[in-house]
Amino acid sequence: MYPAEETSASSFSDNNGMRSASASASVVCATGPLAAIDTDFLIVPWFSDETAQAVAGLDAATGGEIGRAIASKEFQAKAFELFVTPVTDRDWRARRVALIGSGPGERGPELIRKLATAGGLNARNRHVARAAFAVRGTGASAELAQAVAEGLTLAEFYGGTYKTGEPAPAAPPAWTVVVNDTNDAATSAAVARGRILGECSNLARELANEPGNTLTPREFARRAAALAADAGVSTEILDENEIEKLGMGLLLGVARGSVEPPRVIVFRWEPPGAPAAPVLGLVGKGITFDTGGISIKPADRMELMKDDMSGGAAVACAMRAIALLNAPMRVVGVVPATENMPGGRAIKPGDILKSAAGKTVEVINTDAEGRLILGDGLWYARKLGATHLVDVATLTGAVVVALGKVTSGLFGNDDAWIDLVRRVADRAGDRAWPMPLFDDYREQIKSEIADMMNTGGRAAGSITAAMFLKEFADGLPWAHLDIAGTAWAEESKPYQPKGPSGVAVRTLAALAFEKF
Ligand code: BES
Ligand code: MN
Ligand code: ZN
Repeated sequence: MYPAEETSASSFSDNNGMRSASASASVVCATGPLAAIDTDFLIVPWFSDETAQAVAGLDAATGGEIGRAIASKEFQAKAFELFVTPVTDRDWRARRVALIGSGPGERGPELIRKLATAGGLNARNRHVARAAFAVRGTGASAELAQAVAEGLTLAEFYGGTYKTGEPAPAAPPAWTVVVNDTNDAATSAAVARGRILGECSNLARELANEPGNTLTPREFARRAAALAADAGVSTEILDENEIEKLGMGLLLGVARGSVEPPRVIVFRWEPPGAPAAPVLGLVGKGITFDTGGISIKPADRMELMKDDMSGGAAVACAMRAIALLNAPMRVVGVVPATENMPGGRAIKPGDILKSAAGKTVEVINTDAEGRLILGDGLWYARKLGATHLVDVATLTGAVVVALGKVTSGLFGNDDAWIDLVRRVADRAGDRAWPMPLFDDYREQIKSEIADMMNTGGRAAGSITAAMFLKEFADGLPWAHLDIAGTAWAEESKPYQPKGPSGVAVRTLAALAFEKF
């Protein structure tokens, strides 16, 4: 849980001269009553079974329009349905009210975050300058207010910065999050927190959206380190010589097929006075483009493989959030970064690589490159003193078959740790579901010639990938999030445009505030 104290928002832009992908307006907190909120567009979540009188005075302020719309079924509060009507009461300071329907289901932070994003996207499309969002729902009001600030901020992401023919999108509105709460300091701190977490999620989306030709491993390392260092994280970028000295044969093996040299991005957050342990170790997959290598992928949809560094971006942007929110514990982050290309010096099926941990790997399929670079990444996080590990990776197509596009796969070697990661992810709006790692699956990656193979056949593909990673956790509590399905939205939803999602940023950041 986050402490109830003040934090101040801070934005960051480093796009090599490009217009920033997430325009920053502002999000502030105000205490009701709603009648006193001076705004152009007052968004109010509306739950499906509510009568017109559910929000005191609102129906009357619209001259009874809300009551009429509900009675005639013009407005049924279906999920994300919007009903906009003028405020006619001169004693109210809002010009228009927009009810946004909840649909059936739970009315907690998860739904409220989505309603805020949907409302935010709508307000932005209407070129609204000043908008407000009323916090409603079940749960602690600070948690709801944080979710609203996150959701509104997520609506500010824009992925079209390379379009030259289209006018720039409207600047997002300046937001007021309205709470009717007496504990002002705690809720405004929650709003500030939500703002930071939303901004850091958007930075990760910006990185994932960046094409492979601009975001090479070197450029990825530069940007990832800069955005974390800007917030006070110590960063270091290891080049190919340092990587070789460390013996990271798996990462070097994958990098061989590319003319672009690999990098390892290292982050350290060491707040003064923090206890020596625990040390949270975050490891993210940083493949800036995955062609599959010699086991080359089919052309269809290969362009999406520019997002194969989403896990690494999540780690970098979570490190930024951890620093901005002043997390009390030590955290180390490790992001191995490389392209996976089929160059003339590329690794071939049958090749054997030696990991920094000393274990040997027979490469059966060069497209199973994520687990290779993460093996060395996990080893390095341990070497830097991590006591608890979490890795995040767009690792397998198989996890999309198993869980689809809305749930990340969660794997691990320690039930208590898996359970904590799952609960934290849930609260952060990054749904993850536990998958088994029974010892029996180890059989599938047995090699005739080396300590293990890098693939285990078609059956249980996301599990055998995780079994491979488990070899490198060396008994430390370790959890693995397979975000291959959740990192990129292929269909737009009212609360989520097509494109990068920023998944796992908020989960990783929130973990640094937990007790373990
Ligand atoms: N980056 C891919 C996984 C992926 C697939 C992410 C689809 C997003 C969408 C990964 O490196 C990969 O290619 N995995 C292979 C493993 C296989 C060769 C054992 C896969 O899932 O097909
Ligand atoms: Mn691959
Ligand atoms: Zn990959």
